Amino acid sequence: MSAYDALKDRLAQHQSVWLVTGAAGFIGSHLVETLLGLQQKVVGLDNFSTGSAANLESVRQAVNAEAWSRFRFVEGDIRDPAACQEVARGVDYVLHQAALGSVPRSIADPVLTNQCNIDGFLNVLVAARDAGVKRFVYAASSSTYGDHPDLPKVEEKIGKPLSPYAVTKYVNELYADVFARSYGMACIGLRYFNVFGPRQDPEGAYAAVIPRWFGSLVRGQAPQINGDGETSRDFCFIDNTVQANLLAATTDNPDALNEVYNVAVGDRTTLNALFLEIRSLLSGYRAEVAHIEPAYQDFRAGDVRHSQADISKARTLLGYEPQQNVMEGLALTSQWFIAAEQKSASNG
Ligand SMILES: NC(=O)c1ccc[n+]([C@@H]2O[C@H](COP(=O)([O-])OP(=O)(O)OC[C@H]3O[C@@H](n4cnc5c(N)ncnc54)[C@H](O)[C@@H]3O)[C@@H](O)[C@H]2O)c1
Repeated sequence: MSAYDALKDRLAQHQSVWLVTGAAGFIGSHLVETLLGLQQKVVGLDNFSTGSAANLESVRQAVNAEAWSRFRFVEGDIRDPAACQEVARGVDYVLHQAALGSVPRSIADPVLTNQCNIDGFLNVLVAARDAGVKRFVYAASSSTYGDHPDLPKVEEKIGKPLSPYAVTKYVNELYADVFARSYGMACIGLRYFNVFGPRQDPEGAYAAVIPRWFGSLVRGQAPQINGDGETSRDFCFIDNTVQANLLAATTDNPDALNEVYNVAVGDRTTLNALFLEIRSLLSGYRAEVAHIEPAYQDFRAGDVRHSQADISKARTLLGYEPQQNVMEGLALTSQWFIAAEQKSASNG
């Protein structure tokens, strides 16, 4: 039995209280759904800046009424210390996801990104400390590797940040480390590498590549590729990210605490290969998609050329074992985008 399967069995036998910040977002809503399915009580906090009530409604539909009754949602902002204190009270585990994502957004508005990702982070961390939570797990980022040339990325070797977003995510790691030393907190940072899956927002200037391409191809529109398409990423299906969060929150391995971990698959896929796979998956739904070619445009400022994780630290210390590779994850994601498109077409 994998460490994750054993953990799910244990959780289902013992109810705890979890705080998920960013609960109405892509990753946060999946964390809420999984935790409710495992008999847990969950408090969610979100200000709906990039998340949506529709994501929460999808969770409600995916779980039963009894599970949904164990969820308390608070609309609030992590920049408001009082809101953070209120939601942290009585909580065992914090999974802090709320932040403004996107490198280009942070280049366009570094002040707002700093306010949410650093000031807001600190408010949640202080509230978690004051509430005496057992564990504070937070969304860090592969952007922290910055300009370090080594591949695959190992946790100790980071370069200079290439964007304001990357600065904020690195500062999160520094604060978590200092709170562990100063106040004896147990913190774990998860450096996500390009997470993807159902419910990820395909719309807007700052959408991530996978939902954006699914969103345009499923409607028969050509997507754009920034650069020559040979840029590569370690794309990670959402269920693997959920697994890493639950393992990090509950591990009783003392060596695992106050560390940061790569959360990925350990693979590398170019944008060109990604496009071909998504096109092939969707051409079963719309035959004309098979003939669509991407439009190539300039490289985007702040983007690193290649990214690939070494996941051995998470494997060894947390028992993390990704259960879906990129292609399996894309197939699952494709089903969701097709169903969403069919639903929106039937609603007129
Ligand atoms: N998706 C990825 O590939 C990826 C990669 C690295 C790191 N991350 C990090 O993972 C976390 C979750 O990302 P996601 O992909 O689910 O993005 P998302 O935008 O779907 O979710 C973020 C959520 O946080 C909420 N939020 C933002 N600012 C807030 C504020 N001031 N107060 C309260 N709520 C606020 C948003 O409304 C949204 O629901 C973020 O911290 C992000 O930086 C994501």
